[in-house]
Amino acid sequence: MSPTRSTSDARSATGRRSGSGGGSRAGSDREASSGSRDGGRAYDAGPFLPSRGGLAAHRRAAADCRGCPLHEDATQTVFGAGPESARILLVGEQPGDQEDRQGEPFVGPAGRLLRRAAEEAGIDMDEAYVTNAVKHFKFVRPPGGGKRRIHKAPELREVAACHPWLSAELRLVHPEIVVALGATAGKALLGSSFRVTKDRGALLPLPGDEDQNGRPHVVATLHPSAVLRADDREGAYAGLVADLRVAAEALAGGGGTGS
Ligand code: URA
Repeated sequence: MSPTRSTSDARSATGRRSGSGGGSRAGSDREASSGSRDGGRAYDAGPFLPSRGGLAAHRRAAADCRGCPLHEDATQTVFGAGPESARILLVGEQPGDQEDRQGEPFVGPAGRLLRRAAEEAGIDMDEAYVTNAVKHFKFVRPPGGGKRRIHKAPELREVAACHPWLSAELRLVHPEIVVALGATAGKALLGSSFRVTKDRGALLPLPGDEDQNGRPHVVATLHPSAVLRADDREGAYAGLVADLRVAAEALAGGGGTGS
């Protein structure tokens, strides 16, 4: 992972065209798919962003986002949650079944595991801002029908379409440390060459334009759902905690913010 990549590289990684900012399941190196249901039309949440206002204004506007088709089947937009003053911001892939019903990120099984691991690593989750690269739940029904909703990885263009919301959250919260949970979040933040296996556990500068307040650093790790699915769940959990500890230590040491 190059520490000097620019925002435009990160944009091209997700196929992002415009907007006001920057496998089957999230977690390992399995990626958002590039498949499409309508021949590849580009999507963009950019026009749905408010031209001004803080997180509350953005959360209200995101509720009406129609920037990609995922809103059609989802119950609601799941915007980020946490204090605007948060020094650490964690990014997942997309809301799951529970999050879609409750309208809050990371409130299901993966969220409970994340909370436990983060607290063990020394991160106070009450002081953290938590969000997702994609703000709507994407799912399929079991073959032959049925009520169960099975998580489906977002397409690259859905991640790209949603990027303006993530960029706005990064700009408004302005955290010192960003944690990328899994491949989708890692690619959305660091570019298409990102690989969890290669890039996890290191303090990397967030690509972007120079900013007088400095840029946050990113620590990437496994998605908590990947831990839940791992054959060696204990080992995967220990790895998640170790990576989160890198973020906690950077925060304790002043955040690692720099240019
Ligand atoms: N998985 C995610 O990536 N995000 C959530 O909010 C919940 C599960």
